[in-house]
Amino acid sequence: VEINLEDQFQARIDADISIEPKDWMPDAYRKTLIRQISQHAHSELVGMLPEGNWITRAPSLKRKSILLSKVQDEAGHGLYLYSAAETLGASRDQMLADLHSGKAKYSSIFNYPTLSWADMGCVGWLVDGAAILNQVPLCRTSYGPYARAMVRVCKEESFHQRQGFEIMQTLCEGAPEQKAMAQEALNRWWWPTLMMFGPKDADSPNTAQSMNWRIKRFTNDELRQKFVDMMVPQAEFLGLTVPDPAVKWNEARQAYDFGEVNWEEFWNVVKGNGMCNQDRLGARVKAHEEGAWVREAALAHAKKRAERAET
Ligand code: ACO
Repeated sequence: VEINLEDQFQARIDADISIEPKDWMPDAYRKTLIRQISQHAHSELVGMLPEGNWITRAPSLKRKSILLSKVQDEAGHGLYLYSAAETLGASRDQMLADLHSGKAKYSSIFNYPTLSWADMGCVGWLVDGAAILNQVPLCRTSYGPYARAMVRVCKEESFHQRQGFEIMQTLCEGAPEQKAMAQEALNRWWWPTLMMFGPKDADSPNTAQSMNWRIKRFTNDELRQKFVDMMVPQAEFLGLTVPDPAVKWNEARQAYDFGEVNWEEFWNVVKGNGMCNQDRLGARVKAHEEGAWVREAALAHAKKRAERAET
């Protein structure tokens, strides 16, 4: 009897049995996972930069220490994700080289500047809110190591989101100037956050296959709708207005209607021409180069220990 590995693989996926590193898997499944997980890891690393920008300028010692540990969490998320990608045979050096050369993608959202303290509120509330919506379903993604990494990431991400909302709430309950600052930040972050979910399903080359393989559990448009439905009432609670005149509750759909994302802007940022793309990559490359001595020292230390163990 001829055993069709590909059919067996799909049957496991359909039965919700997780795929583990040593299991047989189609090359395209492996490739898609390496692509998505490494992009995700890169996003965590580059995602440290817009907030790192505010650590020295946080308005109080308490805010500073919260922001510092949040940014450290993002570095940790990157490390879990690179490790998950390594279980598929990807090398960390290669993944980083692809990020630094501009070949690999990372989330469009991190190519926007953080101009005011209210941006720290919006990044936590909206950007981390979008990240959670996207990542909670990934705790059930079909590849075991990726799913397990997401569990801890999501716990930390929920804390990040609450702290962002709390910054917004504090500003909105403060002086009129503080509330205006919160509104101004929301105006700038709303649309870029909607872009985080990726192109419309009709224009998404990867969604159908990734849904079939249960890598993705929801489509880009489904998650974007969930996000709008979750955030519009939260904005109302804060006394803020989302910058989209088309937002309106649709009784029949039991969901909010909303306007069209500027897809030209989205693709422009994805292609590397956003406001901060060059800055962000430049900062990553610089950090990597300046860390060379640490890597060399660690290697020299490991070599010395191995030699000592031999004698
Ligand atoms: N920013 C940059 N690139 C994007 C974005 C975005 N917001 N959305 C989609 N793209 C890219 C895709 O990576 C893909 O490029 P590629 O084929 O060259 O790799 C292309 O646009 C087409 O998009 P899709 O076919 O929809 O791609 P995919 O099925 O991978 O869906 C998504 C994109 C939803 C981002 C998916 O990869 C995903 O869920 N990733 C895991 C979560 C993640 O990476 N989050 C990062 C931001 S959150 C954070 O880190 C705090």
